[in-house]
Amino acid sequence: MNKRFLFTFLATSALAAWALLRTPPGRFVWRPRDPNAPHVALITGASAGIGAEYARQLAARGFDLVLAARRADRLHELAQSLMQTYRVHVEVVAADLAQEADVARVEARIRAMDNLALLINNAGFGTIGRLVNSDPVRQQEMVYLHVMAPMRLTQAALPGMITRGYGAIINVSSVAGYVRLRGNVNYAATKAYLTAFSETLQNELLGSGVFIQALCPGFTRTEFHFTPEFKDHTPKPYPNFMWMSAQEVVRQSLDALGNGQVAFVPGLLYRVMVLALRTPVIGDNLMRAASLLF
Ligand SMILES: NC(=O)c1ccc[n+]([C@@H]2O[C@H](COP(=O)([O-])OP(=O)(O)OC[C@H]3O[C@@H](n4cnc5c(N)ncnc54)[C@H](OP(=O)(O)O)[C@@H]3O)[C@@H](O)[C@H]2O)c1
Repeated sequence: MNKRFLFTFLATSALAAWALLRTPPGRFVWRPRDPNAPHVALITGASAGIGAEYARQLAARGFDLVLAARRADRLHELAQSLMQTYRVHVEVVAADLAQEADVARVEARIRAMDNLALLINNAGFGTIGRLVNSDPVRQQEMVYLHVMAPMRLTQAALPGMITRGYGAIINVSSVAGYVRLRGNVNYAATKAYLTAFSETLQNELLGSGVFIQALCPGFTRTEFHFTPEFKDHTPKPYPNFMWMSAQEVVRQSLDALGNGQVAFVPGLLYRVMVLALRTPVIGDNLMRAASLLF
């Protein structure tokens, strides 16, 4: 092969890979300690894992917090420790966001706030097994928790954020939203909804001062794989390099907020994987090959 051609090909490929895989810095302006700026973050699913980590990192940045989840004892414990460590105000809202009445209650709380800077729709869970065998009530709860609740809370947060010309909403989605493997029907479908919802909404909000992110993590070390849904399941021994810590996932999410990558995938490995999955022909064939293995 002609040397000049080879060099041009490699240089162009390297440039394209860099452009597609890099993480530009976020443009969201952090001003929690400005007394005139909105300085409250509301986080759902804050009693564990990624949600609790958002609470820690945002408290460290000086945000007051509203924490929502079902396990109020956990939320109070976390609130106590954050108030002591960071001198911020933390409110606890016990809510089951798979239930209409509780979603309506949190929605009303959001509409009443005049200082909401960040809404983080993070609460979620997974199930094991094929749709045909799974509990229909639990599947409906997943759709409610991953789709209806974030949509309703987002709608409640938007009027105030748009009026103030300032705010951000992070919807915790997943790389699973790009994956079509058996045993994961509603999880993949609801996460795909969250990603599409976020990307489309950001287009509606261009120039409004409100930023949207669909955070799409891969395997993250949290309690996710240890909930009652997974009790009869022996987890596959995925190698260490496939796992990220909640600290790293949340740090990358906050640093990238408003960087133009609405669907934000933390970690180079998962960025490469999503890029491949979204490439026509390559993505379909990868999925087919993976279906033979899993
Ligand atoms: N861990 C991963 O590998 C991974 C990968 C990609 C995406 N994600 C996504 O990340 C998000 C956080 O999960 P995680 O990994 O941090 O798992 P986790 O440690 O199990 O935390 C899940 C959180 O969601 C809350 N939650 C679950 N059902 C709820 C309900 N009905 N109402 C209100 N809150 C509820 C839980 O609180 P209560 O039980 O107290 O209600 C808990 O705070 C989820 O949306 C998940 O899909 C996780």
